[in-house]
Amino acid sequence: MKVVSRRQIMAESEYFKQLPKVELHAHLNGSLTEKTLEKLGCSESAIAEYEKLTRTAPTSRSLQECFGLFSQAYNVIKSPESVYVAARNVIEDFAKDNVIYLELRTTPRANVGMTKEDYIEAVVKAIGDHEYKNKILVKLILSLDRRHSKEESEKALELILRMREKYPSVIKGIDLCGNPEEGDFHETIFEKAKQFLGITIHCAEVKNDSEVERILMFGPNRIGHGTYLHPEHGGSQKNWELYLEKKIPLECCLTSNIICGTTKSYQDHHVRHWLDLKLPFSICTDDKGVFGTTLTKEYTLVQRHFDKIPENLWKMTYDSISHSFASEREKQDLQDQLIRWFNVCHPKIVSTIQNAYNNYTPADLDILLEEHQRDVYINDI
Ligand code: IMP
Ligand code: ZN
Repeated sequence: MKVVSRRQIMAESEYFKQLPKVELHAHLNGSLTEKTLEKLGCSESAIAEYEKLTRTAPTSRSLQECFGLFSQAYNVIKSPESVYVAARNVIEDFAKDNVIYLELRTTPRANVGMTKEDYIEAVVKAIGDHEYKNKILVKLILSLDRRHSKEESEKALELILRMREKYPSVIKGIDLCGNPEEGDFHETIFEKAKQFLGITIHCAEVKNDSEVERILMFGPNRIGHGTYLHPEHGGSQKNWELYLEKKIPLECCLTSNIICGTTKSYQDHHVRHWLDLKLPFSICTDDKGVFGTTLTKEYTLVQRHFDKIPENLWKMTYDSISHSFASEREKQDLQDQLIRWFNVCHPKIVSTIQNAYNNYTPADLDILLEEHQRDVYINDI
């Protein structure tokens, strides 16, 4: 990694903040900020604990501990009204971070007074009602939890397919998620879903060569994480060759992997192989609330650690659109937006940032750096 000044990091972060971005891997209940949790009635002490765990600069935690963090959200999101508030707030956060296309995913949950159908209805309503309509296009991916039994997942799929018929332009995909150290991947369920929905599967988050082979052979439209796929990262040569044949786009979530302890450091992150071999991938947040990140931060981290010029990450964003579950027409519109931004805004922002830095006094810079430090893990970059 090259040595850079904080000033350079700020400039890059500003570029990525302004860049219209695409988020393909964001779990609703992992994406809540403390402010949203507070709004939903989370106690002060629970928020303080959450903050302590999520705002400390990356340290390794066990997967079990990471999965425990979702309980803060589940303790307060128990009614359709709270699901609605949570979804609206998350959409708003992404819109403010200049995300122009969001695929939000969530596992339908039932509770006293709320069926799984009510849950899905509440998220669909939030997607339809949000105030940032002209800024961000939102689609919904419904998740199956790998810890659930095959029968339970079959039932969940029935509901998901029924809801898709009702909201075909919103419900676009299905996902397999949950603690990768537990449960299973059931091909037959995804075979059925494939006829109607885009498929994305959390894959190789931990070492599990036989399951990874089954997932790759099945051939989802995208995979999440792919941490233990490359042989240098503990994957088998056979699976890596299979992956290279299929070139399934990867949803890459750097900070999530670091904080969950499945990747040692940013420099060691497996995205390096995707960059070097020009394999398809997109940068995602996974759980921006739980891991204290934003999409802008994730872009800045890739830029810093892998020395990619901003234009390359613009191109990565442009290509990500073709891996999305949006309609062909929507994809075209999004790609047009990105091209317009590149032609009009890219040169302006590059020169504005340059001029701004030339004109700052050292005192101004100190204040800016202070502000920026709260936004980006400068000490970890
Ligand atoms: P929800 O589906 O909206 O409730 O989002 C939180 C849930 O997503 C968690 O309880 C997990 O089941 C799942 N999840 C979030 N992050 C990950 C991940 O990195 N790997 C696997 N599952 C995840
Ligand atoms: Zn995930």
